Amino acid sequence: MEGVYISSHPLVKHKLTLLRDKSTDSTQFRQLVNEMAALLCYEATQDLKIIPNTVETPMGTAQGSELAESIGLVPILRAGLGMVDGFLSMVPVAEVWHIGLYRDEQTLKPVEYYNKLPIEPRAQVCLILDPMLATGGSAIATIDLLRKWGARRIKFVGLIAAPEGVKALRDAHPDVPVHIGAVDERLNDIGFIVPGLGDAGDRQFGTA
Ligand code: PRP
Repeated sequence: MEGVYISSHPLVKHKLTLLRDKSTDSTQFRQLVNEMAALLCYEATQDLKIIPNTVETPMGTAQGSELAESIGLVPILRAGLGMVDGFLSMVPVAEVWHIGLYRDEQTLKPVEYYNKLPIEPRAQVCLILDPMLATGGSAIATIDLLRKWGARRIKFVGLIAAPEGVKALRDAHPDVPVHIGAVDERLNDIGFIVPGLGDAGDRQFGTA
């Protein structure tokens, strides 16, 4: 599907398989989320703009480059928190703007409970971080919120998705690219990704 980038990186596939494994404990799970986030950050930032930058090396002058765009990371609490350090390890100058949403268990609709966006959109690129794209409701609500706030260039980065969530997100926001570790078979009737990896928030924080 146009605008949907499913990672084909062997390390992403390897780590995602470990994440899926129900015998992976919270400590390993958090470590894997962190590592996968760094790999997906690399993939999701391939089109960032650069400008020429000249530096003096110990041996002479080098024509180099520097990043011309500023980045805001938007982790969706709670599960998105686990992806922040992986992204910051690649882009240490990024700002981090937390959005708190939980999914109502009955309606599966997102409920907002926290918003720490700065007063004005300062970064040129907003990267929404959430391990899971299930119905797509949380991602769509976050993009709606960022758009209303004034963000222009937005990308979604996740570890795993259901096809239903990818379609809903692309239908609602066709201009937001989706970078994902894998797209699974389907959503089940209680809104979980199958085969998926369970609940990424509970598995990271030991609250299952
Ligand atoms: C999970 C997940 C996403 C959302 C995905 O969060 O981390 O934010 O559900 O579902 P959706 O695509 O159907 O909206 P959850 O509500 O379990 O909260 P948590 O991160 O605090 O565990």
